[in-house]
Amino acid sequence: MASTKLLTFFFPASLLLLSISPFGSSENVTVSVYYETLCPYCADFIVNHLVKLFQKGLNSIVNLRMIPWGNSMMQPDGTFVCQHGPGECLLNTIEACTISIYPDVVQHFSFIHCVERLALEKRQAEWINCFELTKLGRVPIDCYRNGLGKLLEQKYATETAQLKPPHRFVPWDFMNFANHVCKAYKGTRVPEACRSLPNNIPVNAETTSSVCYTALKIFFACLLFSFTSPSHVAASYTQLDGSEASLPAKPGNVNLSVYYETLSPTCSNFIVKNLEGVFNNDLISIINLRLVPWGDGNISKSNNAFICKHGPDECLLNEVEACAINVLKNVNKYYGFIYCIEFLAIEGRHKDWQTCFNTLGLPAKPVLDCYKSGNGTKLLLQHAYETSHLIPPHTILPWVLVNNQAIRNDYENFAAYACRAYKGNVVPNACKLPSPRINSAKKYASVIFLCLSIHFKNLERKHWMDLLNFVKYVCKAYKGSYVPEACKPLPPAARSNNADKARDLDII
Ligand SMILES: *[C@@H]1O[C@H](CO)[C@@H](O)[C@H](O)[C@H]1NC(C)=O
Ligand SMILES: *[C@@H]1O[C@H](CO)[C@@H](O)[C@H](O)[C@H]1NC(C)=O
Ligand SMILES: *[C@@H]1O[C@H](CO)[C@@H](O)[C@H](O)[C@H]1NC(C)=O
Ligand SMILES: *[C@@H]1O[C@H](CO)[C@@H](O)[C@H](O)[C@H]1NC(C)=O
Repeated sequence: MASTKLLTFFFPASLLLLSISPFGSSENVTVSVYYETLCPYCADFIVNHLVKLFQKGLNSIVNLRMIPWGNSMMQPDGTFVCQHGPGECLLNTIEACTISIYPDVVQHFSFIHCVERLALEKRQAEWINCFELTKLGRVPIDCYRNGLGKLLEQKYATETAQLKPPHRFVPWDFMNFANHVCKAYKGTRVPEACRSLPNNIPVNAETTSSVCYTALKIFFACLLFSFTSPSHVAASYTQLDGSEASLPAKPGNVNLSVYYETLSPTCSNFIVKNLEGVFNNDLISIINLRLVPWGDGNISKSNNAFICKHGPDECLLNEVEACAINVLKNVNKYYGFIYCIEFLAIEGRHKDWQTCFNTLGLPAKPVLDCYKSGNGTKLLLQHAYETSHLIPPHTILPWVLVNNQAIRNDYENFAAYACRAYKGNVVPNACKLPSPRINSAKKYASVIFLCLSIHFKNLERKHWMDLLNFVKYVCKAYKGSYVPEACKPLPPAARSNNADKARDLDII
């Protein structure tokens, strides 16, 4: 099993782990999925991605193993504690029983798929209907009641505990997991799914800072979740085709305009560390955010070419971001995309900007088409015109306007200005705080908590408290020599309390 690959999805309060291994004797590929039943990402993965194993004959080369245990814990007295509450322990065990009683993978997977789909729709209480829906008997309930389920779970607990993830993480590209499977397969019965895959997707694209990538991906997976209504989570997550209608600017909202250029470190920092706060609380509900990439660019008089302060790459990225705003339309999506590019820019890796499509599961084509068609140039010309006609003219970048008023050097406090300018009735919580500063230290944790709590309101906050430690888990597990910014010490506020520390140890 030396070539076993673990695709690790780190989520502090949940575990989703995918192991793909070509077994020595058999040419079949074994795909083991370590998951817990009520972890939102697990459910999304099973319902929208893993199900692809059963399409186009991929299952003919795969031995799929489902291991419903995740980060649950076994108490000394033999009882289980599950991250998402007792309901999760029940469903873990029921799924374990179903796997054991219906060893045919098509049968037990259809049951699991049914339960996970309900979980995604927050209707997991109706799980019992899945027996009828998948035409299976209710024998697994007896297995649960008579204690057999518990023994099965103990086995899964042991197996999960023995996993040894590699020190470097494969970037989170479950979307492409079919590629991993096809690549691992050494037999001759190549299924259609492997023949029709594009060859140009890098399967082993490990990068030194993939840890940060993982963090970023979780952050954005969440961001993408957060603008879909719960009942449509599944549908919109698989149908991100960029063809969405523009969200109308809400009347009565505060207009927040940000004039910036893509490779200025101050601008990148503002976008990643401050502006992100708009999404970090309910501030976005009162803000119409407008991003205007151009900044201090000029247009050459001799050949009309763009000249940018940080070189031709900046001109290109200004244009790409202008295109993203124009074609993606939904502020959550294009902000996510721009955040990703600026994040890379801070890390000195802006040349990898195209990875942001994959990272966020966004379609590359509309944005690249916009760029190649010359539409990006037209958009930048508009931005150039608008920027050069600002009154008063901008003196620094980023140049931030709140309802057309320049806030100049105080741009980091834009939230306070926005709250003051807001005249509506529904005052967001962010404006009720004494000083609505954006705390960037907690950003990962609180954003994830916030958007998960939107969709999983029945979850108790304490289950997500570990999110505060999310970066820490990732950093702790990382053994590489390149230490990403995110792994440098956090300010005390973001550190965990002792109880959380004790729990750290139970997580890989
Ligand atoms: C490979 O998997 C298929 C489908 O699960 C099964 O029919 C076949 O017997 C397996 N082959 C080997 C060598 O295990
Ligand atoms: C653009 O032109 C202005 C005025 O001529 C100049 O101050 C600025 O440095 C130029 N910017 C670039 C990126 O060349
Ligand atoms: C370019 O812009 C025009 C008009 O705004 C639009 O009709 C066209 O679809 C755009 N092309 C691309 C490739 O985005
Ligand atoms: C915000 O911008 C919209 C559209 O550009 C405009 O109609 C509205 O009057 C602006 N609101 C304020 C308060 O300036």
